[in-house]
Amino acid sequence: MRKNIVAGNWKMNNDLAQTHALITDLKKQTQTSKAEVMIAPTYTSLYAAFEALRLDKIEVIAQNMHFANNGAYTGEISANMLKSVGVETVILGHSERRAYFDETDELLSKKVDAALENNMHIIFCFGEELNDRKTDNHFDIVESQIKNALFHLPESTWNNIVLAYEPVWAIGTGETASPEQAQEMHAFIRSLVLDQYNNDVAENVSILYGGSVKPSNAKEIFSKPDVDGGLIGGAALNAEDFFAIVNAFNMSY
Ligand code: 13P
Repeated sequence: MRKNIVAGNWKMNNDLAQTHALITDLKKQTQTSKAEVMIAPTYTSLYAAFEALRLDKIEVIAQNMHFANNGAYTGEISANMLKSVGVETVILGHSERRAYFDETDELLSKKVDAALENNMHIIFCFGEELNDRKTDNHFDIVESQIKNALFHLPESTWNNIVLAYEPVWAIGTGETASPEQAQEMHAFIRSLVLDQYNNDVAENVSILYGGSVKPSNAKEIFSKPDVDGGLIGGAALNAEDFFAIVNAFNMSY
């Protein structure tokens, strides 16, 4: 079944003490929405976050991983290392990884395979840059990012995949895709999955929106039929704002 998810991507923010402080604040919040809640702290805080949230419903997820299980890859972290500290879900393909760390569709496809081989869940990110949208190439870009990294997968693995549309021009800029722009793209993405697989896979895959989601715009974005939740950056660093977004997910949507 399609899940509603609100995930906080902390990016390279919060050291260990700050992680504990934010989790303490998160635990004080009450949840009135049906959305599943996830947070993605940085690697050095993952285990502490997992321990601190062991009895809580908030899932601790990772921001990235390497495709190999172990070996001579200085500075990298593998799927089984993440699993050994309680992490079952990983974000892959974030535009910051693509832009600053040269992650290509080909590399991401290998990471996707490695995560699935390790029975992990994936939040797979993609999205166009401003110029792509200005030149009306946004659908083509999104289509190729999804096809190249995911469409070799067998149908059975799609239970482990969540998609996250994050237009690069809306990330950290304060500029948000309008609810109509988000819906238009999400419906397009679902139609791609339908064409490649079938109605079951298309209807059951959750598609999150990311890019300057705030308490003030979350409800409108989440009310769209093909928007199943959000991937939240800046606003996830404040417990009240984050839960205002989580709770913008109305039970009746
Ligand atoms: P902002 O919410 O800060 O725009 O970041 C979105 C994002 O990149 C989530 O992965």
